[in-house]
Amino acid sequence: METIITNSPSLKEEDFVRISDFIYQHCGINLHDGKRELVHARLSKRLRNSDFNNFSDYIDYVLKNPDDREFSLFIDSLSTNLTSFFREEQHFDLMSEKFLPALLKIKEKNNDLRLRIWSAGCSSGQEPYSIAIKLNEAVKNNKWDIKILATDISKTMLETAQNGLYDEDKIAQIPAELRNKYFSRQTIRGRKYFQAMGELKDMIIFKHLNLMENWPVKGPIDFIFCRNVMIYFDKPTQQKLVERFWKLLAGGGVLFTGHSESLTGIKHSFKYISPTVYMKA
Ligand SMILES: C[S@@+](CC[C@H](N)C(=O)[O-])C[C@H]1O[C@@H](n2cnc3c(N)ncnc32)[C@H](O)[C@@H]1O
Repeated sequence: METIITNSPSLKEEDFVRISDFIYQHCGINLHDGKRELVHARLSKRLRNSDFNNFSDYIDYVLKNPDDREFSLFIDSLSTNLTSFFREEQHFDLMSEKFLPALLKIKEKNNDLRLRIWSAGCSSGQEPYSIAIKLNEAVKNNKWDIKILATDISKTMLETAQNGLYDEDKIAQIPAELRNKYFSRQTIRGRKYFQAMGELKDMIIFKHLNLMENWPVKGPIDFIFCRNVMIYFDKPTQQKLVERFWKLLAGGGVLFTGHSESLTGIKHSFKYISPTVYMKA
């Protein structure tokens, strides 16, 4: 629960409208009226950490300076970056145990040794690292050329993802055997951390990408993970996104969405596999 600091300046109606209009246009996030308190609470923190005394001046500055770090912090503060290793674990099992064996056989027959995966909205990297671990465990033969594209709108999240350095408590979901195999232990100023090893990092390409803009992404992609991202978008935005994912996926490719992001209410031609799992059959 977020609380508003009582001595924070008030958020004027016109400023809330400017913020929500901009955020919707820029990154598709739907900050409807019910999010007013959340916007106020989160931006109050930004105000306290910067030199601005009111929201109007802060927003003027941020919108005029999209290359400034504060712009990224503004976007970050209004989006949700929550993630974890092996979140919604059934997706990783389905990928490696159900879809992958058949896919590799077909690819081998067609002399196509490339496997392409996209983690769209990868936050601080736990999703693409989980994919990399699963694939590394499942595909033993190194003749395969496996690349995971991991993208996010948040530059700060991408920095964390690229570093691959995680606090001890963030790593708890990874079984000990895999943790020891794919992460090295570090102690920094008395705190314990785990760092993803080169073997995993080499499989992932981290890139800044806004899903509302052009995608410099080369298809066809075999698996797209876009989980817990679309939930913040409205239906028309979700519709467009799903159509674009369809175009980019290979025949037989699979789209994984987050636990509360079924494609109900969206027009599409995907084959339903199970809740939140859709195949371009
Ligand atoms: C809740 S996290 C989900 C992380 C991960 N996919 C998972 O399920 O654990 C949502 C991520 O989507 C990103 N995001 C929101 N809008 C975006 C956009 N327009 N383009 C790219 N990424 C976006 C946010 O920055 C955030 O890191």
